[in-house]
Amino acid sequence: MKLTIVGSGYVGLVSGTCFAEMGNDVWCVDIDEKKIEDLKKGIIPIYEPGLEEMVKRNYNEGRLRFTTNLKEGLDESLFMFIAVGTPPDEDGSADLKHVLGVAREIGQKMEKYCIIVNKSTVPVGTGERVRKAVREELEARNKPELEFDIVSNPEFLKEGDAIEDFMRADRVVVGTDNVRTAELMKELYDPFQRKGNKVLIMDILSSELTKYAANAMLATRISFMNELSMLCESCGADIERVREGIGSDSRIGRSFLFAGVGYGGSCFPKDVKAIIQTMKEHGFDAKVLNAVEEVNKDQRERFVDKVVGHFGEDLSGLTFGVWGLSFKPQTDDMREAPSIDIINNLKARGAVFKVHDPVAMEVAKSVLGNESIEYCANYYDVLRDVDALLLVTEWHQFRRPDFDKMKTLMKNAVIFDGRNQYELRRMEDRGFVYYSIGRAIVK
Ligand SMILES: NC(=O)c1ccc[n+]([C@@H]2O[C@H](COP(=O)([O-])OP(=O)(O)OC[C@H]3O[C@@H](n4cnc5c(N)ncnc54)[C@H](O)[C@@H]3O)[C@@H](O)[C@H]2O)c1
Repeated sequence: MKLTIVGSGYVGLVSGTCFAEMGNDVWCVDIDEKKIEDLKKGIIPIYEPGLEEMVKRNYNEGRLRFTTNLKEGLDESLFMFIAVGTPPDEDGSADLKHVLGVAREIGQKMEKYCIIVNKSTVPVGTGERVRKAVREELEARNKPELEFDIVSNPEFLKEGDAIEDFMRADRVVVGTDNVRTAELMKELYDPFQRKGNKVLIMDILSSELTKYAANAMLATRISFMNELSMLCESCGADIERVREGIGSDSRIGRSFLFAGVGYGGSCFPKDVKAIIQTMKEHGFDAKVLNAVEEVNKDQRERFVDKVVGHFGEDLSGLTFGVWGLSFKPQTDDMREAPSIDIINNLKARGAVFKVHDPVAMEVAKSVLGNESIEYCANYYDVLRDVDALLLVTEWHQFRRPDFDKMKTLMKNAVIFDGRNQYELRRMEDRGFVYYSIGRAIVK
């Protein structure tokens, strides 16, 4: 089948490449000229495991093409996917200027029927706004007879596992108002459904809301565990044991129950804000989700409080090593990463840093700058003469480090672990002062 994906970021590039992998002809469009030129040369703008090889193969075999000219794709494609960003507006609602901009461009340039598929995360009701924007443009061109359909097909991939998530999705949600479009969407996703059909067809509004509901639910689980971690620290329980205790209940399940420094990234923070705003527009106070946000914000501050509790308010003259900067492992995405707030907060109290991230160093430099921060190529270099290590992102290589080597490098054997990577008993045996989340302090 022939399709175009407008927006070649995390979602657009991964989806486009996976559709091409299944034999479809795919145009990936972006307004960022450098991004498109780089992609044509095989330079991938983001870090996503397995993506580079897949992009190159599909590009070389001619199924994946890149352009800044939407019309090239539009003229050939049955499906026009919109996968551009929906960043938060000032009031927290999703800013739809990119989505509606693409809708208008399609309306200005289409010459034949197409199915406009919204893959961006958009507030409930956006499908209708897209339809209206396209219609207005067609009317302005005196071509109201040109037909199109609108579909909502939110994306649930996770950065770091994006290809696996797309190729073997738990489910594919398709919101549509007619049977014919539903059948065409099913046909497009058929090659991904060899082990059983997971396409859920529903109305457009429910599909749009499903995406926000999913992210809000996952964010809620994280904040719930973080709130409990506070109680654990106070009463002497261990959040890791509590997590195992509830996660083994099949009604609850094990995912997204890890206490830590809170959620970040390009989705949860903005999507929780956006659904809160949508509820406000509908006259409701989002009591649960407001609390989810507040707990998440507090959790970063509580991590800083642990450091301040140990070293005192004035941190001048102290150097902290930081392991992990991206908002989660296996990605270079720094959007809303907890590391940003934690470093900036401690920096304001006079601390300086040595930091390392396996892939996010370049992106981190553009976000955190160079002042008071030394970027180290190796994660052990971070430790030389530091007063403490802060483990902020749980990359695999940090799980079983050489603790003896760490102790010889560090000025003080003190670790603040924002991701509960190590066993308390072992840290005690190894002679570290060890702070983690929702567990006893090892001194
Ligand atoms: N990143 C994720 O893990 C993820 C997961 C699921 C859903 N989403 C949602 O998918 C959408 C896209 O997210 P992303 O992370 O891929 O964003 P991104 O910022 O990585 O990519 C968006 C791309 O769209 C391009 N763009 C903007 N306006 C354009 C236009 N008019 N024409 C062509 N290209 C244009 C930008 O240049 C950019 O390359 C968002 O709504 C997001 O909430 C993201």
